[in-house]
Amino acid sequence: MKVAVLAGDGVGPEVIAEAVKVLAALRREGSAFEMEQASVGGAAYDAAGDPLPGPTLELARAADAILFGAVGGPRYDALPREKRPERAILRLRKELNLFANLRPASVFPELAGASTLKAEVVAGLDILIVRELTGDIYFGQPRGIRELNGGVREGFDTMRYTDEEIRRIAHAGFRAALKRNRKLCSVDKANVLETSQLWREVVSAVGKEYAAVELTHMYVDSAAMQLLKNPRQFDVIVTGNMFGDILSDEASMLTGSIGMLPSASLDEKGKGLYEPIHGSAPDIAGKNLANPLAAILSAAMMLRYSFDQDRVAARVEVAVKKALAQGYRTADIFQQGTRKVGTREMGDAVVAALS
Ligand code: IPM
Ligand code: MG
Repeated sequence: MKVAVLAGDGVGPEVIAEAVKVLAALRREGSAFEMEQASVGGAAYDAAGDPLPGPTLELARAADAILFGAVGGPRYDALPREKRPERAILRLRKELNLFANLRPASVFPELAGASTLKAEVVAGLDILIVRELTGDIYFGQPRGIRELNGGVREGFDTMRYTDEEIRRIAHAGFRAALKRNRKLCSVDKANVLETSQLWREVVSAVGKEYAAVELTHMYVDSAAMQLLKNPRQFDVIVTGNMFGDILSDEASMLTGSIGMLPSASLDEKGKGLYEPIHGSAPDIAGKNLANPLAAILSAAMMLRYSFDQDRVAARVEVAVKKALAQGYRTADIFQQGTRKVGTREMGDAVVAALS
């Protein structure tokens, strides 16, 4: 088994170093996999003029799984779209056909008080957002900025989904729901958008194959509200690329910190890219402040989904729980009475808790 390690920019290298530390500890005990690093994002643009250089893409293709940090930073904001660090992750998703993005948001009991929502609203929360990742307005053509008559400029993007694309992500959503509490909420904007109307029709049709799963539909604005009002009503949410991007950031805040949320992006065969859902956080980069738990939990998802090592994955998750129970907290989840530590110390605490 080969893991491509693409750390990227900002806090990416710091949090990925901690995930690699955890993986290296498991390897010392006999888990068999190799890790190979390559540059990506702004770092790759600086070194090679391309956010996703050919060798990096080749390594990602050849690997059995990819562990990804984060990309982007204010230094690159003025670059043309093709050169921006974000292009690297968008291209990787598209080129490797990683259409199914699983973003679990669950509340560790120790952190219920760290959410800005009342602990009684979020305690016990366990949601899985299944976000479509290779279509929608992120990739739809035509798009651009054009000049209209009279010199007026117009920016435009195209939201589009084929029934095939909707069907395969719907199946991913239903299959995930079958393994959990058998409730699937499909989120769209069918009261306004044609794309969403097709989405709703296709998801409903696929639902006929999953009698054991209770399917509901919700408009995205209402879903955003319900996530804050009564988040525990949700089990699995399935939605498109754009809505999923927004709702998963919102859901992360229920759990106390975006620094806690891992993700898996899978293709048809289960090959995956694993990344924390947080970004490069340039404001805290290089300061040993970032929370590495999302990256470490992403490595756990990798062990579970790409390597079929459920038991080892669970050990990593238990070690994270243990480190939290022992009181270790990075700044983003710090509360009175706990022990504030840096990125590296949190990684060490998880490694120590493995044994
Ligand atoms: C995410 C990020 C990306 C996205 C960015 C970095 C392109 O926000 O993974 O949620 O919009 O998908
Ligand atoms: Mg996002």
